[in-house]
Amino acid sequence: MTASEIAPPVAATWPTPLAVRWLRLDEFRSYAGLTVEIAEGPVVLTGPNGAGKTNLLEALSFLSPGRGLRQAKLGEVARWQGSGAWAVAAHLQTAEGLREVGTGLVPAGDGDGRERRAVRIDGAAASGAAELAAVSGLLWLTPAMDRLFIEAPSGRRRFLDRLVFGLDPEHARRVSGYEKAMRERSRLLKEGRADPAWLAVIEDRMAKSGTAIASARRHVAARLSAVSTASEDPFPKAGISVAGLLEEWLDDAPEAMVEARFRARLGDSRARDAQAGGALEGPHRADLAVRHWASGAPAEQCSTGEQKALLIAIVLANAKLQAAERGAVPILLLDEIAAHLDADRRASLFDRVIELGAQAWITGTDPDLFGELRHRAQFFAIGEGQISEAVAA
Ligand SMILES: Nc1ncnc2c1ncn2[C@@H]1O[C@H](COP(=O)(O)OP(=O)(O)O)[C@@H](O)[C@H]1O
Ligand SMILES: [Mg+2]
Repeated sequence: MTASEIAPPVAATWPTPLAVRWLRLDEFRSYAGLTVEIAEGPVVLTGPNGAGKTNLLEALSFLSPGRGLRQAKLGEVARWQGSGAWAVAAHLQTAEGLREVGTGLVPAGDGDGRERRAVRIDGAAASGAAELAAVSGLLWLTPAMDRLFIEAPSGRRRFLDRLVFGLDPEHARRVSGYEKAMRERSRLLKEGRADPAWLAVIEDRMAKSGTAIASARRHVAARLSAVSTASEDPFPKAGISVAGLLEEWLDDAPEAMVEARFRARLGDSRARDAQAGGALEGPHRADLAVRHWASGAPAEQCSTGEQKALLIAIVLANAKLQAAERGAVPILLLDEIAAHLDADRRASLFDRVIELGAQAWITGTDPDLFGELRHRAQFFAIGEGQISEAVAA
């Protein structure tokens, strides 16, 4: 046996790795119906281009708040040849035992006649996807995120918020509450005859949730930075911060004062925001700023490979923090990750995943890239809307 074939010992006090133990997809993208049982630990999915590897990870990503790893519209992921409804259900191993989690699209016509996403946790309807954050923890890296640092800030904000969800599950509710209030204020301003007292109520909601959002993001960024810069992994150390108006204010004022200042600012900006079609300032405009610690270079100026390595460093730091603070290791969805990494980094990524005990779902077309995971992961072959257990490369 070579060293890489021996799984490292896992301490008895090690936190519970979140793990999908049973998964069922109905009418989701290329899958008409799929049921699979899975052990804990990493999962390798191989298959040719278009086989459905990313679709499967996307289905898993809907077990957390948001629109999944492709930012798809709800109806878009329904199988073309299907009825228009879709569902993803899983049995999730958590620190609190096995939980049943499900989500899907309830088409217009059922219930109130509006197309909507349903979420069920342990057999009961949950009021929104934000509740998923308390049960499941998922982080992903996809090829589309290779451009995360050079594209619009919205992608970086979503990434940042996902990092926060895992450490502070209340964050998902804060973000959806803030967005809802912001949309309502924009609508009232647009209509042009809003009652100032009613606007003040909404702005108060925005100030409270907005300040909490900025504070949580800032707090998580600082802790992630600390973990990443202390790490001995062969991934670049990442300096992580959040750039934004409220974040700046929080540098030298307590939360209560920032909240009051933001409330006043919103009240003063009604005319301007009405012109602009919405609030021009607030946490919805903040940005994640990442630096390559050793060189000091901003991530957007690093090479493509270095940017990917920085993202991996951040995701690993987040997984370590979640393990330490929540006692739960998040599920990692690593789409086509191996192809980007040289052999050394690939081997250490796999080692870190094993050390963490994380159920990482790792995809690739070439089974040869996963030799390091032989005997340490489950291998599945994907094709034609089906999954089959494969013999390791
Ligand atoms: N809504 C849908 N219904 C049915 N098939 C779909 C749907 N969306 C995408 N597909 C198909 O899924 C396939 C892509 O699957 P994907 O998971 O991205 O492949 P890969 O294994 O390369 O990651 C394509 O063949 C595409 O036509
Ligand atoms: Mg793919």
